Amino acid sequence: MERNIKHRLFAGTVIFGMTLIPLSLLAADTEIEQIMKDRFEKFEQMGEAYDEINREVELKNPDYALIKKHAIQIEVWANEGLQWFPVGSGPESGIKTSTKAEVWSKPAKFRALQDEFIIEARELKTISISGPLEKLSAQFKKTGEVCSECHELYRKKASLFSIFGN
Ligand code: HEC
Repeated sequence: MERNIKHRLFAGTVIFGMTLIPLSLLAADTEIEQIMKDRFEKFEQMGEAYDEINREVELKNPDYALIKKHAIQIEVWANEGLQWFPVGSGPESGIKTSTKAEVWSKPAKFRALQDEFIIEARELKTISISGPLEKLSAQFKKTGEVCSECHELYRKKASLFSIFGN
């Protein structure tokens, strides 16, 4: 009887021990996967916000409230973006991504572009809130140039979703 209990305890410990390792690996994988999925979704939303501003600034009577809403959000994303590329979330993860490995092998330039993006997005937000609105279109273009420059260097081409022709 006593032997039986000990045996069961032992078996239980072994099973517990064996499942612990794969579970922790699974958790790590899922976390990176989640980060990459969130990153992709945020960029997709950013693309949509950008598209909508693009449409509005072409109009005779743009919807400034809509532009402002998107500009505020883009600035939030520009800042958040500093957290979107943790080590291990590149192509080496084996998970499908359009982020190039250069994000981590050439990090200084990437960071410089992120900083530039934050500055231009902040300016876009400021103008969309307090004006002068005649400068909005030019600042929007300037912001878009940072998007394109970063994509040129750090995003794989041949994306179906691209709005910048690469
Ligand atoms: C500092 C670099 C950087 C900046 C600035 C940047 N992007 Fe990106 N963008 C990326 C990277 C890297 C990806 C790939 C993300 C991934 O792995 O899913 C991406 C992905 C995207 C995607 C998703 C489609 C795809 O092919 O993966 C869209 C849409 C997009 N960006 C739009 C924008 C817009 C609009 C701006 C500016 C308002 C912008 N991006 C600014 C680096 C940048």
